[in-house]
Amino acid sequence: MPTQSTASSVQNELTGPLPGHPHVHRQQGQLFVEGCSLNDLAAQHGTPLFVYSKAAMRGALAAYQRGFKGRNAQICYAMKANSSLAILQFFAQQGCGFDIVSGGELARVKAAGGDLSKVIFSGVGKTRTEMRAALEAHIACFNVESEAELSVLNEVALSLGLRARISVRVNPNVDAKTHPYISTGLKGNKFGIAHEDALSVYQRAAALPGLHVVGIDCHIGSQITEVDPYLEAMDRVLDLVAQIEAAGIPLHHIDFGGGLGIDYNGDTPPAADQLWALLLAKLDARGYGQRQLMIEPGRSLVGNAGVCLTEVLYLKAGEQKNFCIVDAAMNDLPRPAMYQAFHHIVPVLEHAAETKLYDVVGPVCESGDWLGRDRFLNVSPGEVLAVLSTGAYCVSMASNYNTRGRAAEILVEDTQAQLIRRRESIEDQLALEQLL
Ligand code: LLP
Repeated sequence: MPTQSTASSVQNELTGPLPGHPHVHRQQGQLFVEGCSLNDLAAQHGTPLFVYSKAAMRGALAAYQRGFKGRNAQICYAMKANSSLAILQFFAQQGCGFDIVSGGELARVKAAGGDLSKVIFSGVGKTRTEMRAALEAHIACFNVESEAELSVLNEVALSLGLRARISVRVNPNVDAKTHPYISTGLKGNKFGIAHEDALSVYQRAAALPGLHVVGIDCHIGSQITEVDPYLEAMDRVLDLVAQIEAAGIPLHHIDFGGGLGIDYNGDTPPAADQLWALLLAKLDARGYGQRQLMIEPGRSLVGNAGVCLTEVLYLKAGEQKNFCIVDAAMNDLPRPAMYQAFHHIVPVLEHAAETKLYDVVGPVCESGDWLGRDRFLNVSPGEVLAVLSTGAYCVSMASNYNTRGRAAEILVEDTQAQLIRRRESIEDQLALEQLL
């Protein structure tokens, strides 16, 4: 039987705040988010359950705000990271705008009371219907990704008697040094306009009567943990700003995208304020320090604010591995299956005893349905585990695969826990369908 045991796992020994998670801590053996016991929340609301810390989001946002102090900068939260309405409402209340990629996300900004004049619309495949809705909402800017899109947006705007404010998303051909699925600034990616073509595309855009060129945009990837790709991309973008303005097309703002990584497993991304100190020094040195800036951070605002609670259903000794079968699965937490991503998994109640090596897996009928591999755990059925760093790209990427309902979500502030999404019922799922 594959039962390696150790004195105790690193994860089980943690006391006090968890690394990368200043608002998740152990107190007398129990795991808390701020002042709320996770064991109690799981007992009250069931599992799988996502729990977010407001203080963690506030802290993450504050790092950007410190970095931009005294500058003309607009933070547009990339809501694809987590688009639950209460999360959007929180960021709207903090003065954030939003980076959207669909008509659905636009509707969410409206439902959350966000300021539409602070919305930017990214994405390679905007439909005419989506363009129309965004034009009628008078959003701040469309980040256009192709010449074909320029023509269509021009037509749609003219048909409404409006002019669309646009940036062109330029592809700086910089390696963000991240997972290939989330690297977007290289030549082989579907995103943006090649650096070499940017000037001519801007000239074309400036000549179209339904468009008003207002900025330039660039986003090189996600979960970026190094400074150099950002510095390199900034240089490339500023080279273009100089060229485009020399051609007589003024650029009101520079949108530098998102992408800053978080600590999943000892990752050491720069803090947002440190990164921006370096980028602003570059902007200052080249004379663009007072230009309006926009950024589109997603993961770095919410990723480490969230944990997912899941109950251990069964322990199973396989031929080569032990399996810890839990009630959350790839439909709730798609990142391990999609990107072989690592998330720490820790028991909510700590107790000292022998630990075993497990693969933590979900109930979905796929071998790819794993949440963590080769983890030392000391657990029994009925216990609750917390999967860490699950505030970003988890609920927003969840599906109903295997007719599993989507998990509930809780937002914690100190000792207050508020249900912000109820668990999806089977009735919710069946409601859209009809028999022959
Ligand atoms: N702006 C644009 C145009 C984007 O495409 C993205 C993310 C962002 C901003 C926000 O990037 P962030 O600050 O969150 O890195 N599902 C993947 C991540 C996909 C990112 C897609 N684009 C994951 O779970 O790692």
